[in-house]
Amino acid sequence: NGPFRIAPSILSADFARLGEEVENVIAAGADIVHFDVMDNHYVPNLTIGPLVCEAIRPRTKAPIDVHLMVKPVDALVPMFAKAGADIISFHPEASEHVDRTLALIRENGCKAGLAFNPATPLHHLDHVMDRIDLILVMSVNPGFGGQGFIPEALVKIAQIRRRIDCHAANGGQPIWLEVDGGVKPSNIGLIAEAGADTFVAGSAIFGARGADRSYHEVLADFRN
Ligand code: DX5
Ligand code: ZN
Repeated sequence: NGPFRIAPSILSADFARLGEEVENVIAAGADIVHFDVMDNHYVPNLTIGPLVCEAIRPRTKAPIDVHLMVKPVDALVPMFAKAGADIISFHPEASEHVDRTLALIRENGCKAGLAFNPATPLHHLDHVMDRIDLILVMSVNPGFGGQGFIPEALVKIAQIRRRIDCHAANGGQPIWLEVDGGVKPSNIGLIAEAGADTFVAGSAIFGARGADRSYHEVLADFRN
C-alpha cells in the first residue's frame, strides 16, 4: 500500500518560531502538518488552539491535520474549520455522540478522523466506517511528545488495515490509516508493513535541530 505521507507533529517544534518551523519542515519534504490540541482535561497537558491554527494557515498549502485531545469535542469543530483545518480527528471516548461529531466535522468541510488510544477497542468503528476519512492509531498514551512506541499498536494497525481494505473492496470510500506516537526511522518500516500509510512524528523530526541534522536529512531517513 502507498502512497506514504509524513506528518510532523509541531508539538515538538520551536513554538517561538512556529511559522518558520512549519515552512521549513514542509519545504524539507513533509506532507501534512499534525496539530496536537490538548485541554488539560481529556489529557494532562495544555497546548494550542484555533488562534494558532489560524496563524500558521497562511504559511503553508499543506493540509493541517488537527488532532483533538479534548473533551467535549463539538464546540471546537467549527472553530478549527474556520481557522483552516483540513482534517479533524477526535477520540470516541471524548464525544457523547460519535456519529454526530463525525457528521459535524464533514458538514464543516473537513475530513473526519477517529482516534484510538492504546486501550480503546475497535468496536467504535462498527457503525461509522462510511463516515470517516481517517483512522488515527495512538502508539503512545496521548498527552506528551517523546514517549516510546507501544509495540501492541502494530497488531491494531494490522486489524484496522484489514477492515479498511475490506471496506474499500465493498465499494467504500478510501480511509487513511495514521499512526501517532514514538514513530522513528528505526520503526517506521515495521509500522508501514503492518498497514499504516500516514506517519506522525514529533520529537524524531524536530529533534534534528539539537542533533545538528537538517529536516531534509531526517525526512529522508523516514522515507528510506
Ligand atoms: C501525543 C501526540 C503526538 C506527539 C507525537 O499525544 O498526539 O502527536 O506529538 O510525538 P512523538 O513523535 O515525539 O511521539
Ligand atoms: Zn497527535
